[in-house]
Amino acid sequence: MTHFLDIHKTDPAALRAMIDQSIAMKRARADRPKGALDDEQPLAGRMVALIFEKPSTRTRVSFDVGVRQMGGQTMVLSGSDMQLGHGETIADTARVLSRYVDMIMIRTFEEETLLEMAEHASVPVINGLTDRTHPCQIMADVMTYEEHRGPIAERKVVWSGDGNNVFASFAHASVQFGFDLTFTGPEPLDPERAWLDLAEKAGRPITIDRDPARAVEGADLVVTDTWVSMHDPESAKERRHNQLRGYQVNEELMRHAKPDALFMHCLPAHRNDEATSGVMDGPHSVIFDEAENRLHAQKAIMRHCLGV
Ligand code: CP
Ligand code: NVA
Repeated sequence: MTHFLDIHKTDPAALRAMIDQSIAMKRARADRPKGALDDEQPLAGRMVALIFEKPSTRTRVSFDVGVRQMGGQTMVLSGSDMQLGHGETIADTARVLSRYVDMIMIRTFEEETLLEMAEHASVPVINGLTDRTHPCQIMADVMTYEEHRGPIAERKVVWSGDGNNVFASFAHASVQFGFDLTFTGPEPLDPERAWLDLAEKAGRPITIDRDPARAVEGADLVVTDTWVSMHDPESAKERRHNQLRGYQVNEELMRHAKPDALFMHCLPAHRNDEATSGVMDGPHSVIFDEAENRLHAQKAIMRHCLGV
């Protein structure tokens, strides 16, 4: 069984093959209408369940379109509409779904739900975001970087803001793809110790620098994300804004990066909080390429999981 649960749990050679395949597949269907099939239909006859315990635009639409382009079929399920949201166990849900579908993509509040689903499913399970990680996003981000600038290996990537689930998958990617990662943000919102330790043990320690201007110096890629994630309590909003205000990615901060640095944000964004519209719509920004590349990267992830 080949699940796609996290970047650090996936073999680096397989990750590399997925990035290369996603770029090739994107090129092969350039200028084709979005609803047109790919030349090859590796998912013909396959049914994929897309389960969402929380909101989504990109993940939901890109998985749905990607499956269809590869000849498969999808069903989109909301966690709260399923018996899963009303007391049925995750294990039983996984066993039942495995009788109907060939693959499951799930976005959950708690990582535990994803892991239990994977343990009890007899079909591949893909992580569509948990409170701890967001691996599909960072596969699209690595693809986006390499499309624009070539190999990401040994490049300097700087994350400014909350040390959240999206940062965690960047930490995993820094190890697997071999780039340097710097975190700049307030200490209370530091990344999980587990991810810092993992990177350090792998010989790719993450630099922590509380001074955003110094951290961004010489960056090839500057990344941020929302200051309040879906799993964070609404009551934390004001405190987080106060803690993170100094880490906004704005035009002044971007001046410290390399002149040809890229700017990324997984979206959705709160414009002029974590990043200014000037940066989001400016010359460094590749945010909409990132969004598009969710589609292409996930098609390669699904092929990897199904071995097709
Ligand atoms: N970036 C991302 O995962 O977006 P959605 O929440 O819209 O899926
Ligand atoms: N960190 C954000 C990412 C959304 C795609 C969240 O978890 O809400």
